[in-house]
Amino acid sequence: MLKIDGLVLTVVDPDTGHETEILHGNSLELAQGEALGLVGESGSGKSMTLKCILGIEPDGARVDGTIALDGTDLLASGGDALRRIRAEDLALIAQNPHGALNPVLPVGRFLVEGMSDARSMGRAEARERAADLLRQVGIADTERVLRSYPHQLSGGMLQRVVIAGAISGDPKLLLADEPTTALDVTTQAEVVAILDEKRREHGLSMIFVTHDLDLAAAVCDRLAVMKDGEILEIGTPEEIRDRPRTDYTRKLMAARPMLYPEGHPAAFLAGGAGPAPLREGGGGNDETDRINGEEAGA
Ligand SMILES: Nc1ncnc2c1ncn2[C@@H]1O[C@H](COP(=O)(O)OP(=O)(O)OP(=O)(O)O)[C@@H](O)[C@H]1O
Ligand SMILES: [Mg+2]
Repeated sequence: MLKIDGLVLTVVDPDTGHETEILHGNSLELAQGEALGLVGESGSGKSMTLKCILGIEPDGARVDGTIALDGTDLLASGGDALRRIRAEDLALIAQNPHGALNPVLPVGRFLVEGMSDARSMGRAEARERAADLLRQVGIADTERVLRSYPHQLSGGMLQRVVIAGAISGDPKLLLADEPTTALDVTTQAEVVAILDEKRREHGLSMIFVTHDLDLAAAVCDRLAVMKDGEILEIGTPEEIRDRPRTDYTRKLMAARPMLYPEGHPAAFLAGGAGPAPLREGGGGNDETDRINGEEAGA
């Protein structure tokens, strides 16, 4: 569904005119419903790759190569038509959910405005749809959350709202850029589990950017290892782990930090147990109680 061929990104210093090549001719393919992890150290070009797909590369930058989404080259000159394809078919879930949400609108308005058919719905129906979206991402206390402004909710809660909004727009491809890095470990696990569950439920393709190889391996069908603006290798998590083709991948594997004394977030996804259920009401665990009880009023 996505085919990137020879992607080169060149940024130009506006003062000196000096050009720097950031991405050096990368290619990758993504099948319908497939999740690809983009892993590699800071500065390797993961986010820039997503920005090229989204068409939000830095001002004055040049993007060469092709990025074809279901056969349409997003880099061809096409103005409004391509903008519409990007807006309808792509959804970004970034590290900081505040970037996706309007700080002066309650969450309910954000969700309703994202619905493509909002205009044909009455207020009550739109509201009910928004509440339903929140329930789908494990939020039980929907009325309070819908009324809340972004600053009244935690990062984990907001990231769920962003995921709900992304899914409601019925995109083809999710682009997730370190979607849980800013969250505490327990919340990370829950948000990754929700993202994974929703993506599978809707049969969406996804590119999942992360520093965390274990997380990428748990969430993704294949991994692409990036370094210095280049994709070094692409393979299944098993291939990357057991038969790395480059020294760099070997080093990356060896350097995995043991950051999770309470258990890796990916454990939520392992063993076919599926995402951790977020139960309603009184039977909730600490996290759901916190989310449903204390948060919106804080
Ligand atoms: N606005 C910009 N103008 C010019 N160069 C940039 C700009 N933003 C980033 N870069 C450079 O592009 C390269 C790739 O950056 P990118 O943000 O894609 O890395 P990344 O892999 O996402 O890193 P991280 O894991 O830290 O998010 C880096 O060398 C960075 O310095
Ligand atoms: Mg980045």
